[in-house]
Amino acid sequence: MAYFRGLYERFGLRRLVIPQVYEEFCGRRVLTMEFIEGGPIDNLELARAYGVDPAPLVRDLLRAWVLTALGAGMSHADIHAGNLFLMPDGRLAMLDWGVVSRLDDDTRDLFHAMVEAALGHEEAWDRMAGHMIRSQGVMLQDGFGASREEIRDLVRMYMEPILTSPLKDVSMAALFMNPEKAREVNYGEKAPKRSLKEKWRQNRIVAKAFSKAMDAGHFEGETQRQTFLAGKQLLYLERYGRMYTPNEALLGDKEFLAAALTMRAGENLGSMETAFGQGTAK
Ligand SMILES: Nc1ncnc2c1ncn2[C@@H]1O[C@H](COP(=O)(O)OP(=O)(O)OP(=O)(O)O)[C@@H](O)[C@H]1O
Ligand SMILES: [Mg+2]
Repeated sequence: MAYFRGLYERFGLRRLVIPQVYEEFCGRRVLTMEFIEGGPIDNLELARAYGVDPAPLVRDLLRAWVLTALGAGMSHADIHAGNLFLMPDGRLAMLDWGVVSRLDDDTRDLFHAMVEAALGHEEAWDRMAGHMIRSQGVMLQDGFGASREEIRDLVRMYMEPILTSPLKDVSMAALFMNPEKAREVNYGEKAPKRSLKEKWRQNRIVAKAFSKAMDAGHFEGETQRQTFLAGKQLLYLERYGRMYTPNEALLGDKEFLAAALTMRAGENLGSMETAFGQGTAK
């Protein structure tokens, strides 16, 4: 918490509060921190009672998440209303730092590519395809026989609307649909009608590809885990974004993103280890 407080200060994220930790009252099993008055970010009545507009807070939350992920390869990994408190003075407190994801280099690069893609760098989609192939090549290439170009187009079809369309028009559910359905939801292209026999054949191909990937241990890799965890955070950010900033895209803050991209990994941020040593619990 102290480390992230330092980062937020450096980033000038003054509307976000991480409770101050009182180290002299902490031990291996006890964490003592500043008491935060407030309540969950999705409590509209509370926001009204405080006279607080949560929109800028949600923007800052997303900025903080992007900055720490890009700049330090780390981020709060338990983003949800129970851990995000609106405060009467109009700030937003981030509680519960029990889960912090550390992106491995590969996942961090994937996230980097995602931001570049959102900024319109065409070649970033291909880099994202490269990541997909490294983590799921067995399924996508061996199982489905997809080429790199096809994988790139698929990644783009699934991701581009999520990253760049106004949140009110985004359907996260499309992420979990098969490509034809997702295309229909995302771009309004009607999926072709399939005979029962064709459907059955397709299902067999899918089942086989999954089983191949399973045998190759592709669902147990660290990158898979990290990507899932990071994806889950984006889902929540999308949820609050949709509530309070429906006309903005998840990664639509172009000026900010371009500036954030220039930050080189760990260069001027300093790692948690250098700041505090490996084990800080007393
Ligand atoms: N610094 C704080 N000031 C005020 N309330 C807090 C603070 N930290 C935590 N809380 C309250 O305690 C609740 C649970 O704390 P926290 O989220 O850190 O733990 P947790 O492991 O998620 O617990 P649970 O499993 O009960 O959700 C928070 O949702 C919040 O209501
Ligand atoms: Mg909690």
